[in-house]
Amino acid sequence: MRIRTHLLLLALAALTAAGCGPDQKQTTTLTSPGEKTTIEFALAEDGSPTYRVAYEGATVIDTSTMGFDFQGQPALQKGMKITGVKHSTTNETWEMPWGEQREVLNHYNEMVVSLQEAQAPKRTLNIYFRAYDDGIGFRYEFPRWEGVDTLVIQNENTQFRLTGDHTCWWIPGDWDNYEHLYHTTKLSEIDALSVGSPVDHGGRMHIAENAVNTPVTMKTAEGLYLSFHEANLTDYAGMTLVVDPANLALRSGLVRSDRLGYSVKRALPFQTPWRSIQIARRAGDLIESNLIVNLNDPNRLGDVSWFKPKKYVGIWWEMHLGLSTWDYEITQSMNNWVGEDVGNVGHGATTANAKRYIDFAAANHITGLLVEGWNTGWDHWAGFEDREGVFDFVTPYPDYDLEEVVRYGKEKGVELIMHHETSAATRTYEQQMDTAFALMQRLGLHSVKTGYVGTILPKGEYHHGQYMVQHYRKVLETAANYQIAINAHEPIKDTGIRRTLPNAIAREGLRGQEYNAWSPDGGNPPEHLPIVAFTRMLSGPIDFTPGVFELSLKNKPNNQVNTTLAQQLALYVVIYSPIQMACDLPQNYEGNPALQFIRDVGVDWEQTRVLDGEVGDFVTIARQERGTGNWFVGSITDENPREVTINFDFLEDGVTYKAAIYKDGPGAHWKDNPTSIQIETAPITKGQEMTFALAPGGGLAVSLMRE
Ligand code: NOJ
Ligand code: CA
Repeated sequence: MRIRTHLLLLALAALTAAGCGPDQKQTTTLTSPGEKTTIEFALAEDGSPTYRVAYEGATVIDTSTMGFDFQGQPALQKGMKITGVKHSTTNETWEMPWGEQREVLNHYNEMVVSLQEAQAPKRTLNIYFRAYDDGIGFRYEFPRWEGVDTLVIQNENTQFRLTGDHTCWWIPGDWDNYEHLYHTTKLSEIDALSVGSPVDHGGRMHIAENAVNTPVTMKTAEGLYLSFHEANLTDYAGMTLVVDPANLALRSGLVRSDRLGYSVKRALPFQTPWRSIQIARRAGDLIESNLIVNLNDPNRLGDVSWFKPKKYVGIWWEMHLGLSTWDYEITQSMNNWVGEDVGNVGHGATTANAKRYIDFAAANHITGLLVEGWNTGWDHWAGFEDREGVFDFVTPYPDYDLEEVVRYGKEKGVELIMHHETSAATRTYEQQMDTAFALMQRLGLHSVKTGYVGTILPKGEYHHGQYMVQHYRKVLETAANYQIAINAHEPIKDTGIRRTLPNAIAREGLRGQEYNAWSPDGGNPPEHLPIVAFTRMLSGPIDFTPGVFELSLKNKPNNQVNTTLAQQLALYVVIYSPIQMACDLPQNYEGNPALQFIRDVGVDWEQTRVLDGEVGDFVTIARQERGTGNWFVGSITDENPREVTINFDFLEDGVTYKAAIYKDGPGAHWKDNPTSIQIETAPITKGQEMTFALAPGGGLAVSLMRE
């Protein structure tokens, strides 16, 4: 279904002030369809563009300035006049080919403000504003300028002035890495420069100034939630937000290329990504908001039904636990990654081991298998400087029969997920990827996990700069030509591109489960995921790799997974991804009745309801599976135990659902009793209310199957 009305309300708006001189204040206003958000655009006395945002009538972003610094051009900031204002409305519904919900309402009012310098060189700038009921977005458009072909941007000076010293959930504005723990502080107390790296991120850490990465989420003293991010990051540098504590403000800080000495180079005309602010009274409404995807362009790939949302297993966790290696022969490079001498363990990616995982998957309704360490090159990756030309993505090690693994998997209904660890040698990957994707196409494989461990080659580039934004996009677009979907690790942040290119299925871009296996700082604390759900997850699907059952990690005495078993199950519902790993070893699942939840749980959703939640404390989400109409509920808590009351009013009337309830058992505790779980079955109907006790670091998972 697709309804689209694009209504031109006003061609040239009536400006609230008469006269158009640069010294006269001019204002124009935009309000969202349900009158929740208002954006006021104004020129300051000196002709600088400013904007202000209100929610339900109260200011949430105070008058903030906008402008740019260039190389070889004077700054664009002052002395502007408004030459035109256009208003329009869009009210459409679009369909997600896979996602948290099938239908997405995209209803907004738009205002395009055209500006021009009053004096020579009379450069022009258009600013697009969109007001939604769940937030706002704006972007800059550089039209053609006489005598200027390309623009080199040194700084974008978009300011966000806050109305108080809000509580912020933030990670540092690292140019190379999003794999940080979250901090909870007042805005004025953000100190990103003091955040050391407790873990060696393979040399990938670059925090240039006191800035945060997005999405960054805040709560005001009045209890309003704000989350700042960007949408449709295309051919531009990633944006951090630089903290200006004295003014209680943030300012856009673009990742800069040290190789090239600037942040962005573009030919005119072009548009920047959207700067977005989600605004909500209820924390859970941030998760239900579709602002980020709505700010992206419609599906350009058409039918992508060749990609099927799936659960998958992998020859993966055993490597992170140090039980096998990526390498065929030597273990040196492997040690560089895990950070300790893992001893002389064997190669993980063997044909026989792959078949063992396939057998397990096939017996448990799991339709994907990831195999890492299958191709030559792992003796020379992380930790080496000269990484170009090492991996080729088509040559298997001698003990791995790729064709046979693919054949055996197909026979059992399990599709191989390819693995391309580029070790951040981007030129090699760009040269190799057509050949690598052609091999996958010949084998009938439709998804690949890519990886970018290490500092970016060419030197002087960062994971989040324009060069890499272009690279990640090139990979997505090339893969689409071969009907291949991408799950990127060490990625660029998600900015909703999956709407336009739905082969962007998932990505990492956070401290994932792997840190629990080897990180010397004790892994992810229990509050990590109750923060992630309201920060990183607002940007898009996460390949978190849940499902550890052997939580105490017997062979890693200094590490453990800091959740209960019931929470690991709940993550299949709470953390959204169209590909969900069951990451533990087959032998750790066999015989455990909790495995039934992983067998049953859906991965593709008709609708999603965030029932309750508080950033950093807990969250409860219900999702209805496409096709079956079954519902699944997941709830997770931080280090504090709590009671969660669920009203099953979202169920269909007149249907009795067969529920299986997986809850923390007696004495369950993330630290010393993580596997205590209690499984019960009960009939549940619409409107029933039940209260559950969640253990410290605990969770709850419920499957509600239509009989
Ligand atoms: C980092 C990824 O996040 C991890 O999942 C993968 O196993 C290693 N790189 C090796 O590619
Ligand atoms: Ca990683």
